[in-house]
Amino acid sequence: MSTMSLVEPQLLHPAMQVYCEANAEASGQGRGVTAVAALAVTVTSNAASLADICTVSNIESILPSNGTLLGLNLIPDATTAGAVYNASTGMGGTTMGSTSSGSSTTYSYCNVTVTYTHPGKDDTVVVKYAFPEPSEFESRFYVAGGGGYALNSDATGGLEYGAAAGATSAGYDALDYSYMDKVLTGNGSINWDATNMFGWEALGEMALLGKYLMKALYSMSDSDKLYTYYEGCSDGGREGMSQVQRWGTEYDGVIAGAPAFRFAQQQVLHVFPVTVEQTLDYYPNPCALDVIVNATISACDPLDGRTDGVVSRTDLCKLNFNLSSIIGTAYYCEGTSASSGAGGGGPSGSTTTSTYAPTQNGTISAQDIEVAQAIYDGLHNSAGQQAYLSWQIASSLEDAVTVWSNTSESWTYDIPSTGGEYVTRFVQLLNITNLDNLDGVTYDTLVGWMDTAMIRYYNSLQTTLPDLSPFRDAGGKLLHYHGESDPSVPAASSAHYWQSVRSIMYGNLTDVEAIAEMQDWYQLYYVPGAAHCGTNTLQPGPYPEDNMAIMIDWVENGVQPSRLNATVSSGTYANETQLLCQWPTRPLWNSDTTFDCVTDNASIGSWTYSFPAFDLPVY
Ligand SMILES: *[C@@H]1O[C@H](CO)[C@@H](O)[C@H](O)[C@H]1NC(C)=O
Ligand SMILES: *[C@@H]1O[C@H](CO)[C@@H](O)[C@H](O)[C@H]1NC(C)=O
Ligand SMILES: *[C@@H]1O[C@H](CO)[C@@H](O)[C@H](O)[C@H]1NC(C)=O
Ligand SMILES: *[C@@H]1O[C@H](CO)[C@@H](O)[C@H](O)[C@H]1NC(C)=O
Ligand SMILES: *[C@@H]1O[C@H](CO)[C@@H](O)[C@H](O)[C@H]1NC(C)=O
Ligand SMILES: *[C@@H]1O[C@H](CO)[C@@H](O)[C@H](O)[C@H]1NC(C)=O
Ligand SMILES: *[C@@H]1O[C@H](CO)[C@@H](O)[C@H](O)[C@H]1NC(C)=O
Ligand SMILES: *[C@@H]1O[C@H](CO)[C@@H](O)[C@H](O)[C@H]1NC(C)=O
Ligand SMILES: *[C@@H]1O[C@H](CO)[C@@H](O)[C@H](O)[C@H]1NC(C)=O
Ligand SMILES: *[C@@H]1O[C@H](CO)[C@@H](O)[C@H](O)[C@H]1NC(C)=O
Ligand SMILES: *[C@@H]1O[C@H](CO)[C@@H](O)[C@H](O)[C@H]1NC(C)=O
Ligand SMILES: *[C@@H]1O[C@H](CO)[C@@H](O)[C@H](O)[C@H]1NC(C)=O
Repeated sequence: MSTMSLVEPQLLHPAMQVYCEANAEASGQGRGVTAVAALAVTVTSNAASLADICTVSNIESILPSNGTLLGLNLIPDATTAGAVYNASTGMGGTTMGSTSSGSSTTYSYCNVTVTYTHPGKDDTVVVKYAFPEPSEFESRFYVAGGGGYALNSDATGGLEYGAAAGATSAGYDALDYSYMDKVLTGNGSINWDATNMFGWEALGEMALLGKYLMKALYSMSDSDKLYTYYEGCSDGGREGMSQVQRWGTEYDGVIAGAPAFRFAQQQVLHVFPVTVEQTLDYYPNPCALDVIVNATISACDPLDGRTDGVVSRTDLCKLNFNLSSIIGTAYYCEGTSASSGAGGGGPSGSTTTSTYAPTQNGTISAQDIEVAQAIYDGLHNSAGQQAYLSWQIASSLEDAVTVWSNTSESWTYDIPSTGGEYVTRFVQLLNITNLDNLDGVTYDTLVGWMDTAMIRYYNSLQTTLPDLSPFRDAGGKLLHYHGESDPSVPAASSAHYWQSVRSIMYGNLTDVEAIAEMQDWYQLYYVPGAAHCGTNTLQPGPYPEDNMAIMIDWVENGVQPSRLNATVSSGTYANETQLLCQWPTRPLWNSDTTFDCVTDNASIGSWTYSFPAFDLPVY
């Protein structure tokens, strides 16, 4: 399996020509010229001005000849270019930390669009790039990830790093449409071009073409080092892993947060909690679900050695806390009055589900706990074989949230469209936005959906190829992080991939040896208490805010991290810096202010899975 279709992208003519020599005249344009020039002296010492380089004719003159870059055919007539001065760029990167909002810094850049087609396909791929003004350029190219079913559509994310960046239409109007709207050309028919482009291909092409243009635009010579970075979370994390797996030699540093990879299992998992409810024929009210999570957090918070509202050791919680101890806990939540608009995909017949909810006043029952326990235990088939892992205990049970049905005057399931629409479109190949109901759906049905989708999209969306040798051997660095209480992409999904890479690439080594090898280029960090690509309102824990600075230091200065710098943003310990533990070590507070990173085999065991419900290996 390890050799399976690791497509090696190649430059058909890798020798980069250097253009623009006529423009190589120094210019004092731009702010902070002296400070920046000191950092980027090798490249910008004789740089042209933005106005000089940013013309349509200049861009046209540096396009690769047809057939020479990945075989692509460029369409020069469609090129646009125009300088943009003093623009604010909105988002300050894609780390999605709760405090990372746009800054007041403004940037000037060359706004370029180039257009290409794949020979014989008659498709049109429009790529937009933002090239920093020459005095700000620091020989970097930056690729930002998207989220959900959307590729990133903003090309300006690299400017704060002195980097050029791009965004691609991917041949399916990805700048304006979700891939979800394009996966089918009609019922029963998959759009494979869009699927491959979304899955892994478009970003790689965008990066290669962007770097080619960048070298010419800034008159870089072959010996000038150019650094390529990737950063994204959620599907953006998956996209980052796709780049490491498929275009490994093209990237120097990749930051992948909570990757929504193992796509088939990941998406069908969103339907698992409602299937638990249907199978057990019991529908906990939302207040009960919240109280189960809150009580679990309270009970497990101290197990990591400090009572701070954060379950830094969900493994110890899983091993030592019995959910049944919550039975009998009282809960009370005010009802909410009806407003317009129907709810999500409830069962047909309850299409009148609304935001109306009666007051919920009661005590946690054994059945409430049975549902929560089954969800945290993860999907097993009817033979009892494990099919997939689940969210860590103490994660919010958001995919289990029930809705009130006026028709039946009871709580009932509400199929999350994240999972339901995946099943209708990617598995059933029907152009509809959710499952109507769960009639006939069992655990085995879910396993079957996962199996179908895993095989069908193994080479496009699954994104778990575990042999990263080309990336490692080219010197690439991978920073992988995941909120430990992520209620959407299970935290254990990341450890499972790390373990797959470890066993495929270092199968002969002992754990100690393998870890020593891996930390030189692939580091995984769990973020205590954090939710999906951000902080968690239920646990006031730390969150990393400086991943790009850390990565740049690693790649460009050889400063290899061993811990991940994160900051607590709320609660009693707000502003505290925590240097997070690198997997597979785990945090254990030894006082109110410091924690150790410990090795705990029982805990690692609780994060370790095999999935015998599938005949194929699930990496
Ligand atoms: C390259 O191919 C494109 C698309 O087929 C075509 O429009 C363009 O004219 C070609 N360029 C040259 C120089 O032949
Ligand atoms: C951009 O801002 C700089 C510094 O504030 C100013 O000198 C320059 O005139 C501005 N450029 C444009 C085109 O507005
Ligand atoms: C960048 O160029 C495109 C294509 O000409 C244009 O639609 C867009 O508005 C430009 N962006 C800015 C910020 O000027
Ligand atoms: C899918 O259905 C929507 C809404 O019914 C329709 O607008 C769209 O054209 C359909 N797409 C395909 C590919 O059939
Ligand atoms: C949890 O507690 C319940 C009720 O006391 C008990 O039946 C069950 O065996 C316990 N589970 C474990 C794993 O100890
Ligand atoms: C909740 O129910 C209990 C028992 O039925 C009752 O004693 C209590 O007053 C109720 N609480 C509220 C706030 O209505
Ligand atoms: C559901 O029932 C409640 C209570 O009777 C009522 O206030 C609400 O308007 C109803 N909602 C709908 C959508 O019929
Ligand atoms: C596609 O399938 C859905 C679900 O069966 C159906 O509602 C829709 O009409 C079909 N679309 C076409 C164009 O046949
Ligand atoms: C493990 O050892 C065998 C035999 O020496 C060798 O053929 C294989 O390449 C090694 N595998 C790895 C992953 O190092
Ligand atoms: C659970 O805890 C959160 C945060 O502490 C709180 O806002 C929420 O009201 C609690 N939920 C219930 C049902 O008590
Ligand atoms: C961690 O980050 C904070 C805030 O960015 C910084 O002040 C501190 O020096 C960093 N600590 C380490 C050890 O890098
Ligand atoms: C954290 O820092 C902010 C901003 O400096 C400050 O307003 C706040 O009081 C600090 N919180 C704590 C708990 O120290």
